[in-house]
Amino acid sequence: MAEIFETVEKILVDIAAAQPTNAEELEQFRIKYIGTKNIIKPLSKEIRNIPNEQRKDFGQLLNKVKKSAEDKFQSLQSGMEAGAEDAAGDEIDLSAPPSSMPLGSRHPISITMNRIIDIFSRIGFVVEEEREIEDDWHNFTAMNTPEDHPARDMQDTYYLKDSTSMLLRTHTSSVQARVMTSQKPPIRIIAPGRVYRNETISARSHCQFHQVEGLYIDKNVSFADLKQTLFYFAQEMYGVDSKIRLRPSYFPFTEPSAEMDVSCFICDAKGCNVCKYTGWVEILGCGMVDPQVLENCGIDSKEYTGFAFGMGIERQAMMLYDINDIRLLFENDVRFLKQFQSAI
Ligand code: DAH
Repeated sequence: MAEIFETVEKILVDIAAAQPTNAEELEQFRIKYIGTKNIIKPLSKEIRNIPNEQRKDFGQLLNKVKKSAEDKFQSLQSGMEAGAEDAAGDEIDLSAPPSSMPLGSRHPISITMNRIIDIFSRIGFVVEEEREIEDDWHNFTAMNTPEDHPARDMQDTYYLKDSTSMLLRTHTSSVQARVMTSQKPPIRIIAPGRVYRNETISARSHCQFHQVEGLYIDKNVSFADLKQTLFYFAQEMYGVDSKIRLRPSYFPFTEPSAEMDVSCFICDAKGCNVCKYTGWVEILGCGMVDPQVLENCGIDSKEYTGFAFGMGIERQAMMLYDINDIRLLFENDVRFLKQFQSAI
């Protein structure tokens, strides 16, 4: 009787060891151990020849064999199906058109800023990026803004907690001081970046915005150089027919100072709500670097002169893309941003 037990045990071992590697071999496995003429069936019939006291064990052993055959078949079959799917994936049709990649978009501020950088790069201006957390000296003192100047008022400037001297820069003019104290003339830089002012947020103004600063220092730099540089910028940015107009103004760090308007490119200077029916749009502040600023930063004002300008980005981006609320530029609503997918 021990023999028949051994035969069944051997089948159990065979099942565990079987390794069909393809569909054909799997089918053979199925026929042999599970099919209608499987090799376990005839052994079941032997049960009547088994002595009573061993029948139960024998029955359990047979059940174990059947179950292990079925389980093994199930797992082999699902393994092969998964493998077949992988194999199907390998058959790539190289001639098929690719599925399109989801496209992101540049932010309108970046687009506008990049255009400005590009225009000035073409005439030799180098980009300088500097810190947004500044000290009082670079933001104000070096730039000739005296202690009692209203721009220093807590209302306008964000000071760092518990600090009277560290602040969020209120303009990119602080980069002028950074560059002048660390480089020797000739200096020809533009400094794009974010600035902060404690202002009430509305459709027209925000507590954070962007500027591009320009600074050119060399021997014999004149106001005519400034004018021509800005005229070039206006034509590149707003079209060859653009005109500029300089109005006398005041900034602590320039003397003389001016504000520049560009002829309204939306209405061709005929008058519209963007230019408030004047035909002109204010773009930037500029002037000749005040000799005192050069001296503050260790540059000999008898040897060198320079011009500087600073322009806001938001206003220009809003004009270029017909955006009527500055807050849209800071909310990062994808419905808004998606509209710039085709812009570079
Ligand atoms: N810093 C000024 C502002 O934020 C803008 C400005 C005016 C920058 C004249 C300059 C300049 O470099 O020369 O309003």
